[in-house]
This record gives sequence, structure tokens and C-alpha cells, in this order.
Amino acid sequence: MLAGDLVALPTETVYGLGGFARSATAVQRIFTVKGRPFTHPVIVHISGVSAIDSWARDVPESARLLADAFWPGPLTIVVPKADDVSVAVTGGQPTVALRAPQHQLFQDVLTAMEAAGESAPGVAAPSANRFGRVSPTTAAHVHSELGDLLDERDLILNGGTCEVGVESTIVICTSEGAHIARTGGVSAPQLADVVKLVEPSVATAGSPRVPGSLESHYAPAAQVTLVSNTSELAAARQAHLLSSDVGVIGLAHDLPLCPPTWLRLAEPTTVGQYAQCLYASLRRADEIGLTRVIALAPPDDGIGAAVTDRLKRASQR
Ligand code: TXA
Ligand code: MG
Repeated sequence: MLAGDLVALPTETVYGLGGFARSATAVQRIFTVKGRPFTHPVIVHISGVSAIDSWARDVPESARLLADAFWPGPLTIVVPKADDVSVAVTGGQPTVALRAPQHQLFQDVLTAMEAAGESAPGVAAPSANRFGRVSPTTAAHVHSELGDLLDERDLILNGGTCEVGVESTIVICTSEGAHIARTGGVSAPQLADVVKLVEPSVATAGSPRVPGSLESHYAPAAQVTLVSNTSELAAARQAHLLSSDVGVIGLAHDLPLCPPTWLRLAEPTTVGQYAQCLYASLRRADEIGLTRVIALAPPDDGIGAAVTDRLKRASQR
């Protein structure tokens, strides 16, 4: 990795396409392989809180409190960047997004980079999918997304199925508190136990720099219809009662309300399981050639808010 090659690797949220964050060549190739616009910044993955000051400066108290509470884990903090962090990583912004992943294989890679002489190593890693598509949660998904685009120097590491299943929560940290820019593996109430949650400041409002915040994202080829209540479900039943190319994802106890003609893509029994199987289910719909996926929104608590957020974006066209 220190030589500038790319390594797709597991995190507890989704698989990332990793490159040494101080290598201009590696960072540029990440954008090219993903087909991602150069103005969209990437997260730098570090081993833990002790590495923050190698990548950031003037770190607000809110960021330190959150990192102490949730790292390693599915939380990304956005803080002012250190002078030597390249603008290619930050998309030209004065801030950098930092996260310490929990997956042991990722931590092993960081330890190996450190053993090779790099102090406080950082791995730039967006999700290992083509821009705008469904994030991969297994090594096989990475291979089907990017296999043809990587070259012989690159690697895909297999660390099993991602435990969390949706991306990290992103918080923009300032002296006033923390603003949630993307919901994810750590919920708003969990964050609020540690820091003050604030609305976007003038500096962060309207920033177009969070791809997951573009309208259509995380989308399979099949059309996703998000159903949030029983009257929406009645309308979907009416419209697609007899269709043979419709799949459904929802909590097991909601599924008896759906017509038997809809293919059960996944029947999770908890919101956590829903998050874990969400992206694999959307992929499966495309593999089978379904034209539509009806997704029954889970309750909004815990990781349910992130599941609904991803389904909303996946349903945009
Ligand atoms: O769980 C995750 O966060 C996964 C795993 C691989 O760590 N990564 C991931 O990366 O989802 P990506 O690139 O797909 O999404 C990262 C998000 C993007 O929406 C990006 O715009 C935002 O982080 N981001 C990065 N740097 C930022 C910054 N300085 N200010 C605001 N947003 C930033
Ligand atoms: Mg992504």
C-alpha cells in the first residue's frame, strides 16, 4: 500500500477501496477507478485517537469526545486538516474526514504500514463501489463492482461479511458542537449523549461535498419504492399485486402484509439485521433481474434511521 497500489479491504460498515493517503498516485487512482468526481473528498482511516493530530489541527473538543467514545467504530469526524494533508484527499476543502475502523484486518494493515516505518499511517478509502451505486458488504461484491478496473498490483482482501452493513455516521465538528452530515452506524441519540448536536453552521450549510447526500445514490438497477406506512403499502399492493418481477425487503413481522407474488429478498427480524442485509438484498434483486424492489421502512430508532435514509436515496431517479 505504501508503494501506491490500491487495496480493497473490509471495515465493519462496508468494504473500502483503500490507498495510502499521502500518495498522490494512489489517491488519484481511487477517484479514477470509482468514477468519482475529484471534488468529492474521501475519508482517511487511521488506527485511533493517537493519530488524529498527524492529520488534523485545531481539533475541537467535540471531535475528541466523540472519537474517545466511538472509536474504533462506525463514526467519521470532519475536522480542520493539517497543512500537509493533500487537497486531493479533502476535495479542496480545509477540512479532513477521519475514522478509526474496527475491523481487525483493516487494523492489521495499519499496523503493517507502521511497522514499515510510516508513523500514524492513513488510508484514504471511499466505499468500494462505482460512484452512485450500492456499497459492497462482501469481497465478492467488491470483485463484481471493481474487479475489471483494478490492475495486477492491486488487492482485494476478504474479511467476510460486514457486520454493520451501512456506512459510518459523519459528523462535522466545530467549537459549537457536532452536526450530523450522514446518518450511519452510530445513532443521533448515542451522539447526543456525548456532545451537543447542532444545525449546520454557515460554513458547512449547503456544502455539496457529501456524495451520499446527492439525491440518487446507493441505487441498484431495479427501481426502489420506499413504503413508510400502511396507506403507502396499500397503494403499492394495488399497483403491483400481480407483478412477477417485484421483490420485497422488510422486517419479518411486516411481510405478511405483502402479496405472496412479491419475492421475499430478505426477512430480517431486527433493525440491525435489516442494515446488515440491505445492500446484499438490493444486489440480489439485480442479479435475479427484478424490475422493482418494494422496501418497507424500519422504525426510525437506532440504525433504522440510516437504513431509511439509504432507501430514500436509492429510490430517487
Ligand atoms: O463507513 C464508511 O464511511 C465507509 C467505509 C469504507 O469507511 N466509507 C465511505 O466512504 O462511505 P465514501 O467516500 O463512500 O463516503 C464518505 C463521505 C462522502 O460523502 C464524503 O463526501 C464525505 O465522507 N467527506 C469526506 N471528507 C469530507 C469533508 N472534509 N467534509 C465533508 N464531508 C466529507
Ligand atoms: Mg460511498
